[in-house]
Amino acid sequence: MIIFVTGATGVLGRPTVQRLVQNGHQVRALSRSEANRHIIMEDGAIPMAADLFDPLSVTSALHDCEAVLHLATRIPPVSSMKNPGAWDENDRIRREGTHCLIRAAERTSSVRTFVYPSVSIFYGDAGPQWVSAEDAAIEPLEIHRSTIDAENAVLGFSKTGPHNKGVVLRFGNFYGPTSPDSAQTIAMARKGFAISVAPSPAYKSMIWIDDAASAIVEAAESAPTGLYDVVEDDPATQFEAIAAIATAVRRRRLLKLPRVLLRIAIPKNLRDLLTRSQRISNTRFRDVTGWRPQVPSQRIGWQMMAQKDKSTDETPSLHGTSKHPA
Ligand SMILES: NC(=O)c1ccc[n+]([C@@H]2O[C@H](COP(=O)([O-])OP(=O)(O)OC[C@H]3O[C@@H](n4cnc5c(N)ncnc54)[C@H](OP(=O)(O)O)[C@@H]3O)[C@@H](O)[C@H]2O)c1
Repeated sequence: MIIFVTGATGVLGRPTVQRLVQNGHQVRALSRSEANRHIIMEDGAIPMAADLFDPLSVTSALHDCEAVLHLATRIPPVSSMKNPGAWDENDRIRREGTHCLIRAAERTSSVRTFVYPSVSIFYGDAGPQWVSAEDAAIEPLEIHRSTIDAENAVLGFSKTGPHNKGVVLRFGNFYGPTSPDSAQTIAMARKGFAISVAPSPAYKSMIWIDDAASAIVEAAESAPTGLYDVVEDDPATQFEAIAAIATAVRRRRLLKLPRVLLRIAIPKNLRDLLTRSQRISNTRFRDVTGWRPQVPSQRIGWQMMAQKDKSTDETPSLHGTSKHPA
């Protein structure tokens, strides 16, 4: 297929592009700078200078394409999340950017597939119960409204032609060697601390970044229209996750950071969101596509992460590039 990708230089974008190229697809990636161009070419794709918010520019970039993967995002750093306007660009990418791409896809008769990576963090607190897109109640914050609009627009694409499909993947939080959040978690653990807001029995469903990328590729290649949850096979409670991180850095236990510090660093609505228990099931996506995560649980993932990340023993700032709550 000829596939157009936005966000190709991001944490999810790069391994996705690399896999698509490996699978023999021709990948065209939206590029916004000279630095982008180099990364995109290094990954084997063709850089396309385009403006996500300009319908003509996007339509011309989609010429002859068969699939669109809209992976672009702009999550503000935790330190500025409270600021007015901090989420504006992200909302614009999700609403106006998605709309612009879908209109262009509709005008380009070759485009049959549209894939969008959403989040699962807006599910309500379900305690120890398994949840999934089919049965879970969502309790979104204001910052998630634009994501839900994007989900609806992408699912709506499947109704614009008999062969058109729109696939939305609700991902767990990404972790792995290329995630700044994960590097921060390991660096803090090496100092003896766990960055943890949720209570010990709360489940948190994560996804190894390469597994998220393989799910995007699977969605483009084989998944039928629909809304799917993509997380690890066996989500851990917060207690189990901290124990896994401690084992990974060879410590007997980790101390949770004082609540007062977390209160200063993380806005209240996000702290409340992070306390929810979300034990999410990936069964439907597995059944429909045959996709399997290579890293089925954090017990394995954090070990792999600690082995790969030998780079730092510094305690990074909580005000870094963290963007997991969105
Ligand atoms: N991170 C997580 O834990 C997580 C969990 C669930 C779902 N997701 C979803 O997965 C997707 C990818 O996230 P990520 O973590 O890979 O993001 P990321 O690493 O921050 O990458 C963002 C990408 O978007 C591009 N971008 C930013 N502003 C743009 C604009 N105005 N126009 C065009 N492109 C723009 C960036 O390109 P430049 O290099 O040009 O800035 C970059 O390639 C997002 O939809 C996100 O919501 C993430």
